[in-house]
Amino acid sequence: MTDRVASHYGENLQLADAIAEKLRGAGKDLNKLTTADLAIVDEFHIRGRKATLELGERMNLNASSHVLDIGSGLGGPARTLAETYGCQVTGIDLTQAFCEAATAMSGWVGLDNRVSFKQGDATNLPFENQVFDAAMTIHVAMNIAAKDKMYAEARRVLKPGGIFAVYDVLQGEGGEVFYPVPWARDPSISYLATPNQMKTLLTRAGFKLRDIQDSTEESQSFFERMTAQMAKTGTSPVIWQLFLGHDFPAMARNQVRNVSERRIRTVSYFCTA
Ligand SMILES: C[S@@+](CC[C@H](N)C(=O)[O-])C[C@H]1O[C@@H](n2cnc3c(N)ncnc32)[C@H](O)[C@@H]1O
Repeated sequence: MTDRVASHYGENLQLADAIAEKLRGAGKDLNKLTTADLAIVDEFHIRGRKATLELGERMNLNASSHVLDIGSGLGGPARTLAETYGCQVTGIDLTQAFCEAATAMSGWVGLDNRVSFKQGDATNLPFENQVFDAAMTIHVAMNIAAKDKMYAEARRVLKPGGIFAVYDVLQGEGGEVFYPVPWARDPSISYLATPNQMKTLLTRAGFKLRDIQDSTEESQSFFERMTAQMAKTGTSPVIWQLFLGHDFPAMARNQVRNVSERRIRTVSYFCTA
């Protein structure tokens, strides 16, 4: 299963080169890139960098914090928090091509001393017990059947009292999801939990649930704006098609329907270990 997930995301093995070429084509000077310039590709989740900053605000971070990002993708959320709070962030991700691109991109914006990325599986973290001050996971559990193991691992590696912030796509009450979607071309690698299941999963993993925020309406506007721009100009506000390929316009259109019919919801959970 994990091989199929990694190949869903990681078919473009020269990803950093392809991203650099796109940015150059968009008129960016590669010697003066900022994290904001990268956000069109490296904040690979609904509502982008804004959603990452919202999580960061609730994670009690400062320059001495060491944060774990579970399913770190191209490293955008890790760099955003490292830049905003001066903290250290370690990212772990199943997809080797994403870890390599994330490492290269961190060098482009001078953050390679504060973030690092390692290939690995969220259900079997390669870290000792109680080593991180905080942890986050953004749009990852949709690809993970064994969510009980994933959250137990997050709990294990967090220091007592450490904050775990989860922002994920959940199964809504509106019915089955239309595929393809950005995390799966068909249901075989898609495992959405319902909001009720999430509460049980996090509590059973030993977390104390402090707050829940549903951002579904804002997610609907995010995809409506994206598809309106694609229909009008033929361009997209994000360049995820570099790794999602030619299915990307269909994925975006399906997401408008999935979210507006509440087949999916986006929800954040703030817990303490
Ligand atoms: C939609 S992307 C989100 C990436 C990143 N969190 C972000 O928001 O920009 C989902 C990521 O989850 C990773 N992933 C899926 N299953 C995983 C697993 N079992 N362990 C670690 N990473 C996983 C994928 O490789 C992919 O990078």
